Amino acid sequence: MAHNVRKAVFPVAGLGTRLLPASKAIPKEMATVVDRPVIQYAIEEARSAGIEEFIFVTCRGKASIEDHFDVDVALEAELRSKGKDDALEDVASTELPTGSFTCIRQGRPLGLGHAVWCAKALVGNEPFAVVLPDDVFLSDKPVLQQMTEAYDRVGGNMLAVVEVPREKTNKYGILDIGDDDGTIATVKGMVEKPNPADAPSTLSVVGRYILQPEVMTALDDQEPGKGGEIQLTDAIARAIGHQKVVGFRYEGERFDCGDKAGFVMANLAFGLRNKDVGPSLKKMIAQLSR
Ligand code: UTP
Repeated sequence: MAHNVRKAVFPVAGLGTRLLPASKAIPKEMATVVDRPVIQYAIEEARSAGIEEFIFVTCRGKASIEDHFDVDVALEAELRSKGKDDALEDVASTELPTGSFTCIRQGRPLGLGHAVWCAKALVGNEPFAVVLPDDVFLSDKPVLQQMTEAYDRVGGNMLAVVEVPREKTNKYGILDIGDDDGTIATVKGMVEKPNPADAPSTLSVVGRYILQPEVMTALDDQEPGKGGEIQLTDAIARAIGHQKVVGFRYEGERFDCGDKAGFVMANLAFGLRNKDVGPSLKKMIAQLSR
């Protein structure tokens, strides 16, 4: 079935200070979780969800991201001539169809809201997904696919949400919710990174969104919010009262690969499930924990 959401925006113009020094010369999105860069998980998830147009909001120094999804004619010819069919298949699986991906630059890292706004003309007047590649999910059904399926029923602006420990509310956008059926919660308000004592709930927004084009319009007169950055949550909050805004509780486990601990945990979790790496990793973990 064709989904109503055809386009996805991948903001990849952040500084990645939490992953320094690893992210000094290599974009954090190109850091490897087991056998592929973090950004590839996001693209694979979006493709499973039926996304047809991929928009990268990028910046100076991040050209390797677009190269990764482009055709490498010389490499393919080399692998073919050597009969390395498995490697050839792996390389081919990274290619996005010609004409399906675009890159636009965010000159200065003014915040996630500003990064998304940079893609305004490319998104046009239709609903779109925003996928933050830092968040890598281990799930039976890809999280964005869970969302597009729910969106086809519910519509509106949809934010992936998860419960977080109260002491961590100051790291996330937190929702104030109304009606809640356990999967979909109506959003009455949103606060960016509230102190635990002030947080209206512990339901936090994570890196997957399906948004209406009006959010782009709200970003037109963007003002810096929390942390001096132009916040996406502030623009979504402006839709509350005019448009439906809902939180979607996804099924799966999230790893924040923009953070050192999350990145290492993702490597372990995905490594343990990988048929090539898993058995020796299990053996090593057993030895280390003796
Ligand atoms: P983060 O909050 O993780 O910021 O951004 P960051 O700069 O990437 O990383 P740290 O905090 O310095 O370690 C969330 C997402 O928004 C993108 C990032 O690339 C990431 O996907 N982003 C953020 C932009 O594209 N532009 C910005 O100005 C800010």
